[in-house]
Amino acid sequence: MTRREVHRMASEACTTFLQWALPRLNKRWTGFRPVQQQVCRCLIERLTALDLRSFDAYRDYLRKHPGEWVEVDACCRITISRFYRDAPVFDRLRAHELPRMMDRAHGTLRGWSAGAASGEEAYTLSILWHEALLPRQKHHRLRILATDAQAHMLKRATTAVYEGGSLKELPAPLEKLAFDRVAGPEGLVYSLKRRHRAPVQLALHDVRTPPPMEPFHLICCRYVLMYFDADVRQRCLGYLTDRLLPGGVLVLGKRDPEPPDDIPLQPIDRALRLYRRM
Ligand SMILES: C[S@@+](CC[C@H](N)C(=O)[O-])C[C@H]1O[C@@H](n2cnc3c(N)ncnc32)[C@H](O)[C@@H]1O
Repeated sequence: MTRREVHRMASEACTTFLQWALPRLNKRWTGFRPVQQQVCRCLIERLTALDLRSFDAYRDYLRKHPGEWVEVDACCRITISRFYRDAPVFDRLRAHELPRMMDRAHGTLRGWSAGAASGEEAYTLSILWHEALLPRQKHHRLRILATDAQAHMLKRATTAVYEGGSLKELPAPLEKLAFDRVAGPEGLVYSLKRRHRAPVQLALHDVRTPPPMEPFHLICCRYVLMYFDADVRQRCLGYLTDRLLPGGVLVLGKRDPEPPDDIPLQPIDRALRLYRRM
């Protein structure tokens, strides 16, 4: 059998395994289809560590060791993120929604990035705030809570040093204002300036559990809920909406399913997945 054939067989076996395993974790196969290679790489590493030869053997192992499901769940966390990801979303926030919120916030504007990865989304808001909005409204303050279920992602967010690829959507003038280029072990990397880190507080939190108590003007939860089944999405959307101030804005990812009608949200722009709390 050629290497290519072995690879194809492993990939087919992994697909079959995921279609069996994901519903047991309240996750949906449709969300994972485009990123299955990343998940399968992680699972194959796990099989290797356990000295198991096939996904069928791994199923048996899971039946005998239910605690192992935590490892499958961990492999199913996709961590792709970028600064200014989906540029039209941030253009819209910058031009309309953030100035509108500042008018209403009278002092401190509070945002929450739920499923924040290494902080890219929260820091993008901080950059926009300092470089594009604050010069016009000096008496306002910004506080952003950035939460993720994975401690190692938050650790990277604390370091706030990024590869060039993470900045490819960030407009060049903002990149120049917000980052210092420094030498890393494998070439140039980008270190976020202190003033953009300061408003962001990092914390461990799973979006499937009750949310932080404070109410927010803006909540971003992008490319997190698309991996969950409808029941879990509904519960999480309930939590998120509950913590939005009336008139506050919820931003989902462009590939996240639309919220169902019984959630008190009004679309601002459906294609961009921008919603206002009713
Ligand atoms: C695909 S990334 C999206 C990051 C960012 N929101 C964005 O759009 O660029 C998804 C992030 O959600 C986190 N995540 C996955 N499941 C989670 C959960 N149950 N609770 C909180 N965060 C979770 C992952 O660790 C990952 O950092």
